Amino acid sequence: MVWLISFVALLVGSAVAQSSFSPARPPSLPLAVRSPYLSTWQEAGSDGGNGGYLAGQWATFWAGAITGWTGMVRVDNTTYTWMGNPDPLPTVVTQNSFSYTSTRSIFAMTAGPVSLNITFLSPVTPDDFLRQSMPITYMSVQVHSTDGKQHSVQLYTDVSAEWTSGDRSQVAQWQYGVTGNASAGGIAYHKFWRQLQREFSEENQQASWGYWYYATENVQGLTFQSGEDVTVRGQFTSSGKLNNTEDTNYRAINDAYPVYSFAVDLGSVGSSVVESVFTLNLAQENSIQFQNANGIQSLATYWTTSYSDELSALTFFYNDYSNVASLSTALDNRIDTDSVAKGGADYLTLTSLVVRQAFNALAFVTNGTSDFVFLKEISSDGDIQTVDVIFPTIPIILYLNPTLLKMMLDPLYIFQEAGYFTQGTYAAHDLGYFPNATTAGTEVQQVEESGNMLIMTLAYAQRTGDTSYLNQHYGLLTQWTNYLVNDSLIPSNQISTDDFAGSLANQTNLALKGIIGIQAMAVIANMTGHASDRANYSSIAASYISQWQTLGIAQDASPPHTTLAYGMNDTHGLLYNLYADALLQTKLVPVEVYQMQSNFYPTVADPYGVALDTRHNWTKSDWEVFCAAIAAPNTTNLFISDIANFINETPTNGPVTDLYDAINGDWAEGTGHFLDRPVVGGWFALLALNQTGIPSS
Ligand SMILES: *[C@@H]1O[C@H](CO)[C@@H](O)[C@H](O)[C@H]1NC(C)=O
Ligand SMILES: *[C@@H]1O[C@H](CO)[C@@H](O)[C@H](O)[C@H]1NC(C)=O
Ligand SMILES: *[C@@H]1O[C@H](CO)[C@@H](O)[C@H](O)[C@H]1NC(C)=O
Ligand SMILES: *[C@@H]1O[C@H](CO)[C@@H](O)[C@H](O)[C@H]1NC(C)=O
Ligand SMILES: *[C@@H]1O[C@H](CO)[C@@H](O)[C@H](O)[C@H]1NC(C)=O
Ligand SMILES: *[C@@H]1O[C@H](CO)[C@@H](O)[C@H](O)[C@H]1NC(C)=O
Ligand SMILES: *[C@@H]1O[C@H](CO)[C@@H](O)[C@H](O)[C@H]1NC(C)=O
Ligand SMILES: *[C@@H]1O[C@H](CO)[C@@H](O)[C@H](O)[C@H]1NC(C)=O
Ligand SMILES: *[C@@H]1O[C@H](CO)[C@@H](O)[C@H](O)[C@H]1NC(C)=O
Ligand SMILES: *[C@@H]1O[C@H](CO)[C@@H](O)[C@H](O)[C@H]1NC(C)=O
Ligand SMILES: *[C@@H]1O[C@H](CO)[C@@H](O)[C@H](O)[C@H]1NC(C)=O
Ligand SMILES: *[C@@H]1O[C@H](CO)[C@@H](O)[C@H](O)[C@H]1NC(C)=O
Repeated sequence: MVWLISFVALLVGSAVAQSSFSPARPPSLPLAVRSPYLSTWQEAGSDGGNGGYLAGQWATFWAGAITGWTGMVRVDNTTYTWMGNPDPLPTVVTQNSFSYTSTRSIFAMTAGPVSLNITFLSPVTPDDFLRQSMPITYMSVQVHSTDGKQHSVQLYTDVSAEWTSGDRSQVAQWQYGVTGNASAGGIAYHKFWRQLQREFSEENQQASWGYWYYATENVQGLTFQSGEDVTVRGQFTSSGKLNNTEDTNYRAINDAYPVYSFAVDLGSVGSSVVESVFTLNLAQENSIQFQNANGIQSLATYWTTSYSDELSALTFFYNDYSNVASLSTALDNRIDTDSVAKGGADYLTLTSLVVRQAFNALAFVTNGTSDFVFLKEISSDGDIQTVDVIFPTIPIILYLNPTLLKMMLDPLYIFQEAGYFTQGTYAAHDLGYFPNATTAGTEVQQVEESGNMLIMTLAYAQRTGDTSYLNQHYGLLTQWTNYLVNDSLIPSNQISTDDFAGSLANQTNLALKGIIGIQAMAVIANMTGHASDRANYSSIAASYISQWQTLGIAQDASPPHTTLAYGMNDTHGLLYNLYADALLQTKLVPVEVYQMQSNFYPTVADPYGVALDTRHNWTKSDWEVFCAAIAAPNTTNLFISDIANFINETPTNGPVTDLYDAINGDWAEGTGHFLDRPVVGGWFALLALNQTGIPSS
């Protein structure tokens, strides 16, 4: 079988030039990945992708719709396609390699006698809210001659109106402009938008409001054109330049597909590298609605605190390229060094793939005096501020900037302290449907969310020393703890975060979260000088954890392990909530439990990981890395290498899924497709702990 597959690969390889992929060939290659609405990818996995090539297939929004983005190059009058799938399709370049870092996707290509490299940079700046808040992506195109001769080269690129709405029958409008000449930092831009603006609305997950800009430096030799796709592209392929004209027949996105194009005449190109940089951004002055004690407010996107209009913002961000490229390189290097040190090369394959994905779920906003970070759950649901989606995401947040965690928790506290959550004394699940944080959803996860809020609040305070935050919310924290005192040792029939698996009473892992939550409150009480609360909660937690070990462990199994639910000795599952005990250093759970689980997981490992529990063959990779982070080295490495193999081999074709079949690496049967979820921030679980492996005591 192995021989047969290699043989077939060899045959294909002889017919079609193969690209290399480093450190892996992900299921979908990140191109422009910055916000819930600027999230475009190149599908690679065999369920619908082309194996990881930039040319010959359209890029798509995370939810699957085409976001037209084309690249062509004319070398000595011969036109090649380097991105997208225009019809007619000029000769496709040879893609030699694809590689990714935490912030970049880099394609190296050959078009006849020239080398052509395309770098997509989607910056992540966790400490710099101005840069983080503007969804802008940079595409650098570098060219040089490879045969020692000079060649006449013209570059072409366009984007389509498909970016402006998820409803292709909507009318788009557009306008071309320049802000000055290149020598004075001037840029040329196409502005395009959904003609009928509907603030805070979505269609098929795409935004129905805001203004898109496709921009480049206003250099000598730049031409532009807007118009029907085939006309504009045909103009370039026949002459190597555009007409500098605008089509003003504003029309539906799918009516004679309007595109917005640039051509740059690079002139005679020799062995030195010539670079052109293009940016694509979505300017939304307001991006979130939020209900605080005074009612519903529109919250401005954070960049508006520095730039009062879109063009001055665009001018800054375009000309910021070299700065933000250096910041991004520093982040790439930090994650590279830390990941290899903690988990080896395979671990870097995981972490560097998902930095952009984790941050593309976030919106950075301000109400004028306070700044907030809102999160879109993405794909499993469009919920905003989902507590059990923030929870698995926090390892990357704690590693990069713990203050961001407070900025995510604040809206949840403000909303519940204003009295808007009336379902019960447990914590809310979410604040509504993104981008409207205005009403709590109806999904109920009593123990899950109460435990999550306690654990996350303490994690933030421990990392920052901000004990005033604990005092500020002491009332709600106490209320949730008291809920857990009643419902965590023997949790009633309820769902956990793994809601797709259904509800169950006495879930061993869920109970553990609740008990650690109670101990987290003991630590919170201690940090805020509430001595009697500390004593009370800490003795309850100690008593519960000892009973839990009797109820939740199949001691006689070989080897012993925790169960899915009490008394079900022939079941098992990932005990991922144990991670919180290590993260918070609560030291509530005896080290023997860590060792027992670490010894057990390898005995039930499938090719692509350990199943979430015995009900199904599917697994959740965020929870696997939580388990990996607190296991002995061999078990840690097993989890990490299985996920690295999954990334390389899965037939799934969307932004990397966290829910899949551990036996064949395909979609989890019987569930929706989880795509582009920020929970992959949980892959940073090793880096959020100060040490890996079983805690020494
Ligand atoms: C490209 O086409 C132009 C105009 O037709 C012609 O003058 C030129 O010689 C051609 N260049 C090459 C390298 O074929
Ligand atoms: C593209 O990248 C390859 C591999 O790193 C390199 O050999 C080539 O010189 C680069 N080409 C350009 C135009 O920078
Ligand atoms: C831009 O360049 C054009 C043509 O070279 C020139 O006429 C114009 O004065 C320049 N404008 C600015 C603002 O420098
Ligand atoms: C957000 O709320 C507005 C009303 O304020 C509504 O028009 C819009 O459809 C909502 N957005 C979503 C995504 O539900
Ligand atoms: C572009 O200009 C050429 C030459 O003037 C003309 O033949 C062609 O029709 C124009 N194309 C468009 C789309 O305006
Ligand atoms: C912004 O939010 C903070 C924190 O809730 C609140 O104190 C302040 O009043 C809000 N500002 C405005 C202008 O609503
Ligand atoms: C949950 O576990 C407790 C303790 O073993 C047991 O008394 C109770 O019957 C269980 N509940 C269910 C619904 O199985
Ligand atoms: C309470 O805090 C003190 C110092 O702040 C520390 O020594 C002690 O271990 C803490 N106790 C608990 C139970 O966290
Ligand atoms: C499960 O195993 C424990 C010992 O680990 C034992 O006490 C208990 O009776 C078993 N429960 C069932 C239902 O077999
Ligand atoms: C897991 O997959 C195997 C092999 O395909 C199948 O026999 C088994 O029934 C599956 N188990 C569950 C729990 O779905
Ligand atoms: C860990 O794995 C290595 C290599 O497979 C093996 O030699 C070693 O015995 C394992 N250690 C433990 C503690 O299982
Ligand atoms: C981890 O280390 C950092 C820096 O040394 C320290 O500030 C932080 O409190 C530690 N966290 C835990 C959970 O031990």
